Amino acid sequence: MSFIRTEDRDGVRVITLDNPPVNSLSFALSGELVPIVEAADKDDSVKAVVFVGANGIFSAGADVNDFSTEPTPETRTIRDVIATVERSNKIFVAAIQKNALGGGLELSLACDYRVATADTKVGLPEIKLGLLPGAGGTQRLPRLIGAQDALDMMLKGKNVKAADAKEKGILDEVVDSADALLDAALALALRQAKGDTGGGKRRISRRKVELGKGITAQAAPFIVSQAHKMVPAEDAGGFAAHKLIDAVEAAFELPFDFGIAREARLFEELARSAPSFALRHVFFAERELAKIPGLGDAKPHDIKRAGVIGAGTMGTGIAITFAQAGIPVAVIDSNADAVEKARQTVFGMFMYQVQKGRMTQEEAWKLGQSIQFTDDYNELADADVVIEAVFESMDVKKQVFAKLDAIVKPEGILASNTSTLDIDEMASVTKRPDKFVGLHFFVPANIMPLLEIVRGKDTSAQTLATAFKLGKALRKTAVLSTNAFGFIGNRMVFDYAKAAGALAEEGISPMRIDRVAKKFGFPMGPFAMGDLSGIDVAWHIAKARPDVAKGRTDVIDRLVEMKRLGQKTMAGYFKYDKSVGKGREPIADPEIEALFAEEAKKHGVAPREVSDEEILQRLVFALINRGAYLLEEGVALRPGDIDIVYIFGYGFPPHHGGPMWYADEVGVKHVYDKVVEFGWEPAPLLKKIAEANGTFAALKQGELVNA
Ligand code: 3HC
Repeated sequence: MSFIRTEDRDGVRVITLDNPPVNSLSFALSGELVPIVEAADKDDSVKAVVFVGANGIFSAGADVNDFSTEPTPETRTIRDVIATVERSNKIFVAAIQKNALGGGLELSLACDYRVATADTKVGLPEIKLGLLPGAGGTQRLPRLIGAQDALDMMLKGKNVKAADAKEKGILDEVVDSADALLDAALALALRQAKGDTGGGKRRISRRKVELGKGITAQAAPFIVSQAHKMVPAEDAGGFAAHKLIDAVEAAFELPFDFGIAREARLFEELARSAPSFALRHVFFAERELAKIPGLGDAKPHDIKRAGVIGAGTMGTGIAITFAQAGIPVAVIDSNADAVEKARQTVFGMFMYQVQKGRMTQEEAWKLGQSIQFTDDYNELADADVVIEAVFESMDVKKQVFAKLDAIVKPEGILASNTSTLDIDEMASVTKRPDKFVGLHFFVPANIMPLLEIVRGKDTSAQTLATAFKLGKALRKTAVLSTNAFGFIGNRMVFDYAKAAGALAEEGISPMRIDRVAKKFGFPMGPFAMGDLSGIDVAWHIAKARPDVAKGRTDVIDRLVEMKRLGQKTMAGYFKYDKSVGKGREPIADPEIEALFAEEAKKHGVAPREVSDEEILQRLVFALINRGAYLLEEGVALRPGDIDIVYIFGYGFPPHHGGPMWYADEVGVKHVYDKVVEFGWEPAPLLKKIAEANGTFAALKQGELVNA
């Protein structure tokens, strides 16, 4: 298979990268490209070379799959291509469309000139994969735009739009359209080859490292030490960041070739590191999510108008999300106070965006106008989708859907934002159960990236396809779940909270348990999370489903009796004080520790010494065991889907890859042995994998259902 096409135009060799869908610069492509560049270099009839991408994109960089394969002595990488470009005396121009990312940008930085279309974004996002730019990026970008800017771009992995990239000096020319791109690149190549404009050959490698505007060379060590301080510790998700800064330090200190060698060594170290394997898993797991067996050719509907029932916190957040995606939305609520509060939230939200410089007043006004508040259900007659976000009561929800079914056009989709109730029961009051689906957003809906799409027993493939398309339009990470209690995320969080409560009854302070969770990388511990979501919420669920609640601590009931409902009442498992962390910082409360001790005594639980290691195991292994049940029951499709739910919805540290990936990392057998030791009922699937000494990652899609 060929990945490269060449063509000579007026003495310029046009080399087209063609490796669909994103022209990743794989080992195979690089192997083909090296001799082609060498041949162009040696050919006297070739005055200059232009690189261009097929498939509407320049390149998304190295092929991420290659990092998990062992190279042979014959393997050629993008680094070999770049070294060949660097050695040549010919003029090289990169003609960039849509994206030059990672190795794609690095290839273009080895060229003498870069031309791009106006809709292009360039960046070095390797850090998001637990890597550093390993094909010269850490050495060339600081030489081109200054070390401070380069560090900022690389440490955040942020993409830069064409106009900004030109201003920074990354791009030389920006053209309006893809049609004009190649001609502009050819003209530039020919001008420079003739030496008309006096620029000619322009290798970044020959330049000195710039530090930043107005910064003297003496500041280099300061920039480096500051950068190390700004990123998380090595064992807290910052492993790649520190190595990246080391590579940039090499750019200051060493001649270019030595810097490149240091960068390559650091890159290889990262490519073999556990956090990078985990983050690469997350990258691919995210891209698997929408691949649903049986969805086949189902053609999704367009969503042009939406409706939301309920102007509470959730409904308002969902409405803002629609508005931001450019979809007009009507919010139905008959409570004037709730509507007034919602209006203020919407206004405050868009004004904040204006203040931050993310949109103009006019844009904010327009977005505000696209949210219409009304108490008239008839406004929804034309809606393509209506999402119910009313009080979590089956009776109330059924009434809402019966009403909607009579008003919304027959092809309109009806959706519930419930987090625990049975969506089939809701669908049963409508004449369109095939067009019924669960869309479970997380609070605050306009910020949290996760969306659980819940498939009912009659939800059609087309409805599901539409829900996934909608998720993408709303810029959410959408994961499929079946209609099981708590779906994926909340079902798992119950077991996590149960494990935390049991530890507290054994005499470990909630503060210590939370500290262990945070040290692992969660943004907050289980008790602070309980306080944030509301103790009453957990209490209601426990009342509704005693089977699920079995084994949870009775301290929850006591807290509800004491009206300690969490952050909203300034007291829950912890105390809160307006003067400490704006009322959001948990403060240890001995009264609650005493409450746990009382409950423990009642149940005959004796206090004991527990190591931090065991605390962590109890919390995370509870998630893994439940995750295994969910896979077996077919609630979640793949281990990766569970990982994404937990990372995007509950703050599981991405550098540990999600609970199921973490199980593989520490060994499923080890997890199983501990689950048995803790006296929990192990999921049969966990047992099966442990006995086979296998991994969750090795399970193939679909194989698990009804295992
Ligand atoms: N390697 C391998 N596969 C890649 C890839 C890459 N760098 N980038 C994208 N893909 C694959 C995806 O897995 C997906 O495959 P699938 O269709 O089988 O699921 C397909 O290409 C399309 O990707 P998206 O679904 O993400 O398509 P979008 O149009 O939404 O986004 C994109 C396109 C913005 C290019 C996005 O894919 C992206 O951000 N890619 C990753 C960029 C990146 O991280 N590059 C750095 C690579 S590491 C590197 O270069 C190391 C070097 O320094 C040595």
